[in-house]
Parts: sequence; C-alpha cells; structure tokens
Amino acid sequence: MTTAPSVFGTVHLGYLVIETQRFADWRRFGADAIGMHHDALDIDRMRFRLDDQECRFLLVRGPAEDVVAVGWHVDDHASFEQVETRVRASGIPYKQGTEQEAAARGVERLLRFPGPKGITQEIYTTPKLKTEPLNMLARGFVTGESGMGHVAITTTKPTLMRGYFAHVFDARLTDYIDETINGAKLKIRFLRVNERHHSIAIAAVKGAPIDPIRTRVQHLNIQVAELDDVARSYQRVHELGFTMALSVGQHTNDKELSYYAVTPSGFEWEVGWNPIVIDEATWEPSTHQGISVWGHKPVGQTIIDVLAQFKAGALSLAQTEKTVPQLSGTGIPDD
Ligand SMILES: [Fe+2]
Repeated sequence: MTTAPSVFGTVHLGYLVIETQRFADWRRFGADAIGMHHDALDIDRMRFRLDDQECRFLLVRGPAEDVVAVGWHVDDHASFEQVETRVRASGIPYKQGTEQEAAARGVERLLRFPGPKGITQEIYTTPKLKTEPLNMLARGFVTGESGMGHVAITTTKPTLMRGYFAHVFDARLTDYIDETINGAKLKIRFLRVNERHHSIAIAAVKGAPIDPIRTRVQHLNIQVAELDDVARSYQRVHELGFTMALSVGQHTNDKELSYYAVTPSGFEWEVGWNPIVIDEATWEPSTHQGISVWGHKPVGQTIIDVLAQFKAGALSLAQTEKTVPQLSGTGIPDD
C-alpha cells in the first residue's frame, strides 16, 4: 500500500544522468545541434543546462551508452520524506547521495534507489541555480511546474512498471496509445506526476515478452518554448550529420509538435513544442489509435535498422528484465 498523503503534483522530472564514451559527439549534439548550454566539469563529466538550474543532463564517462539515472525534483521536505518512507519500508537498498554526487547534479538532499530496468531513481529537494547567463542556440525551454520533459521506456513488464511509478510517486494514468510499428502491436501507457501530460511513457509489445530496444530508455523529450526552435534545431541536427529518427509531426494524445533525432549513444531525443497541460478537475483517460495525427515519418530507416530491432527483441527473450517488485505494489493492471 502507498503511504498517504499523496505526493502527486510535488514531483517534477529534474535531470537525467547519461553514461557514454562519446563526449565529443555528445557536445556537438547537445550544444551545436539541439542548442543547449554546455558546461565541461572535468575530463570524465560534462553537463547541459536548459534554464537557471545548474544541471539538466549530467554525462559521465562509461560504457553504457544509455540513460542510467533519472532525477526527480521534489518540491518540499515533507513530500521528499514521504517518498523516502516508501523506499525504506520496501526493504530495498537505497543510498544517500554523496556530497560529490549531489554537487555533480547541482542539487541538495539527494537520495538514490533502484528503479525499473536498472535505471536508478533519484530524488532531491533543492536545485542549485546558476547566475551565469545561458549561452545556447535555443531561445528557451519549458520546465518549471511541468518539469523538464519526459522519458519513454520499453518494457516486457508494463504492469509492474506502472505500479512502480504509482507506488513511489503517485503517478496517474493520463491515457493510452495503441500503435503498430514494424509489424509489432504496441500499447503505450502515459503517466503524469504533475500538470505535464506525461513525465513517463511505458511502451510494451502486446502479447509477447519482447523488448525491441537495446537501451533502457527508448527516447527522452525536452520542450522548447518557441515553435521556431523546433525548426531551427531540426535543421542543425540534419546539417551537422546526426541521424534523424522521425520527421516533424504531431502526437495524437498530448498534441505536442515534435521530431526525434538519434543521440550519439543510440537512444532517441525528442524536441517538442506546446503539449497540452492537464486539468485534474476534468481529465478522463482514453485510448488513442496511433502516435501521430500527422508526420513523424521514419527518416532514412534502413532494413538494417529494422533487423537490428528484431535482433534486440530476440535477445531480450533470453534476458530477465530488472524489476523492483518491492516498490511496485501489486502492479497496476490496465483499466
Ligand atoms: Fe515522447
């Protein structure tokens, strides 16, 4: 059982930690293509900023080529302690972040604990702010109450994963999308922890325990403040020779206009504009058919890419996905 009171609305996606060996490519991708502010920390660590928060992306040198941790900004100490109580009650091992870990993330009061698919979940109360002005190509990003965007994860255990975010953060179901990609029927569950339509999307192949994606995170999303920045960054991604995954299009459920580029680590990066904001008083979950109203066409996807996905899917059959049943309640079956 989740301990009352609810922390819904006090939790915001704050930062992501990415492990990579490809620092030069990531710098070009993040700063020169996407248009974020870049800060080098030392030979093994660099960061990107979107706003006055010191760190929105921490890149650390390592072999994963993946998102390895998700940081959640919790508004107040009471809510932080609620989440901490749930984690402690579950009996799973958790850690107070060290001073060095907190400093790298630009936060205070850091707690780290296991999450689904081996993605460490982290909570913090106070982000450190920079007075140094942003030096970036984009005009601005939407963060604030909505948090900084979202993370989309493929899974063979959608019920447990949804249960995890409901149990730990009081995440609510916003809606579903049914989609067919490369012949596979997918069901995507969109979860929110505040006014943002979704901070987590959970995608699962229907009727088969197959995970077609090599990385733990299929894509992440950041929201630009002005439509112009979707077009300009799309152009830069293209001109700098990075791979585009999906062309500009508009989603059926949150109505966000966006495109998807492929990061130097291989997972995708969505740049979006103007998603709807949820009104808790009137919102009712529904199911949409297909992810897009228009656009979002695969760009230059080759038969090799498709085969690579089938290979990853076949390999996933032989692997047991990491779950955290102690923090997943009894799992939440679909409504
Ligand atoms: Fe997305």
